Amino acid sequence: MSSDKRKRYAIVPGSFDPMTIGHLDILRRASELYDKVYLAILINPSKDYLFNLETRKKIAEKACADMQNVTVIDDGGLLVDLARKLECSVIIKGVRDEKDFIYEKQMAAYNKNLAPEIETLLLPCHCDLLGVSSTKVRELLSVGDYENAKKILPCGTIEIILKQRNA
Ligand code: PNS
Repeated sequence: MSSDKRKRYAIVPGSFDPMTIGHLDILRRASELYDKVYLAILINPSKDYLFNLETRKKIAEKACADMQNVTVIDDGGLLVDLARKLECSVIIKGVRDEKDFIYEKQMAAYNKNLAPEIETLLLPCHCDLLGVSSTKVRELLSVGDYENAKKILPCGTIEIILKQRNA
């Protein structure tokens, strides 16, 4: 029998610029596998975001409002430091294709070097969601195609996006 007393807490990190139904599917599956899940919006100083942190957080909070064991958090530090602080033993990321896998494998190795006690779990995305990405949402919004953007955004979040754009 395992004597591992670590908490069954997981962290789902990313930029979430913005969160999509693809992220939401991964988050929902993570919330079914773990007792507590943190959706962590990480701030990378070298990255330019379309949406400010407040909007990205609002979207994420709206998207996972029905998941009792999910908490949205933001942080400007290292992912592994945050995971340790929150007592998460697992980092969960979704992968759509080989390109994602190569990137996530590198990130997993990097994070494992920094924090050997934390595992990374890669979840393959649902086949219906292979073509979904934050990049596609941003592209659709840039040409004013809100109807198609809405199809790949979590329910009720297009309103939050339109509010930031009109502000
Ligand atoms: O999906 P993303 O936005 O590329 O993922 C971001 C993140 C932080 C999960 C990934 O870059 C990672 O695992 N980085 C490890 C280094 C780190 O903790 N950076 C934090 C500031 S970005």
